[in-house]
Amino acid sequence: MMTLDAIRRPIEGLLKEFDAFVGAQFTTDGELLSEMLTHALSSRGKGIRPMLVLLSALLHAGDESRVGRRSHIAAMLVEMIHTASLIHDDVIDEADQRRGKPSANALWQSRNAVLLGDFILARNLSIGLESGQFDLVTHITRAMTTLCEGEVLQSESARKQLTSRERYFDVIRRKTASLLAVSASAGALSVGARQEEVERMHRIGEVLGMAFQIQDDILDFLQEAKTGKPRNNDLREGKITLPLLHVLERASEERREELLKRLSACHADEQEVNYLQTVVENCGGLAEARRVMEEYIEEALHLLSHYPASEARSSLEGLARFIVERLS
Ligand code: IPE
Ligand code: IPE
Ligand code: MG
Ligand code: MG
Repeated sequence: MMTLDAIRRPIEGLLKEFDAFVGAQFTTDGELLSEMLTHALSSRGKGIRPMLVLLSALLHAGDESRVGRRSHIAAMLVEMIHTASLIHDDVIDEADQRRGKPSANALWQSRNAVLLGDFILARNLSIGLESGQFDLVTHITRAMTTLCEGEVLQSESARKQLTSRERYFDVIRRKTASLLAVSASAGALSVGARQEEVERMHRIGEVLGMAFQIQDDILDFLQEAKTGKPRNNDLREGKITLPLLHVLERASEERREELLKRLSACHADEQEVNYLQTVVENCGGLAEARRVMEEYIEEALHLLSHYPASEARSSLEGLARFIVERLS
């Protein structure tokens, strides 16, 4: 597996400029807000989305010297939408850990975390609009509404214990794949790629995003995962993700009902969490999720093979493999 550092190599310089740009733009003179903002910006994630923007920009521009401010703005827009959505997501999921640190809601309560997320989204939009890059702002912010639809759909599905694959794929397409799709396509758009190429990158980002969320759902079950997030939180929240879905599909009607009842109890009962965790492992739920994820990655690799060999293409292929093999 290519490491993230190796994947980043062709865009190292661009990522440094990007970091400096974001740090300079996101400031406030409110004392508490400033403290929260510093926390949000300093606990860095993997930065998959800006990597996708900049690698896609480089793939289409051909040379680093032809990737500039427009691509940095696109990278900022997607990464800060992502940052804010995680802050809100931890409120929704009542998660007390993110990126190996206490979440914003754990440190400053949900009410302040909601406002922090709002501030980041508002500031992000202002910077985007002030830059005058309206095509990028329009293209990228479309994913924000889709993402919210996905989160609400998921919450409704958990409450009603809906167990169709169609519904699961719809949720992850909206809540996660939509943002990776616009990351990849905005990178191409930011350097003036043709419409056809922007659309191809959109699909590449989307399938990578589907695989990414499936791996995230697998990691939620794994002891050896190093995500810096609480483990088994999906069960605690009553979420029926692909590994569990597979088990439910194969169970008898009676057993299904029993499993769903146990799932409802997970919110307050760690024994039920452990029970379901073991069932998913023993009944091939994780293997099935890996099989489906592999299909998405194959599609991404096939679409990438349309491009002539280059450092950017190799890194994008490396990123595709990283997504399925990562433990963090
Ligand atoms: C986590 O995304 C949320 C999902 C969409 C699964 P990442 O795993 O990209 O989060 P960070 O930014 O690296 O923490
Ligand atoms: C991903 O949702 C977050 C968004 C897409 C907004 P999850 O709740 O599945 O992600 P993690 O596991 O908390 O990162
Ligand atoms: Mg969550
Ligand atoms: Mg969530």
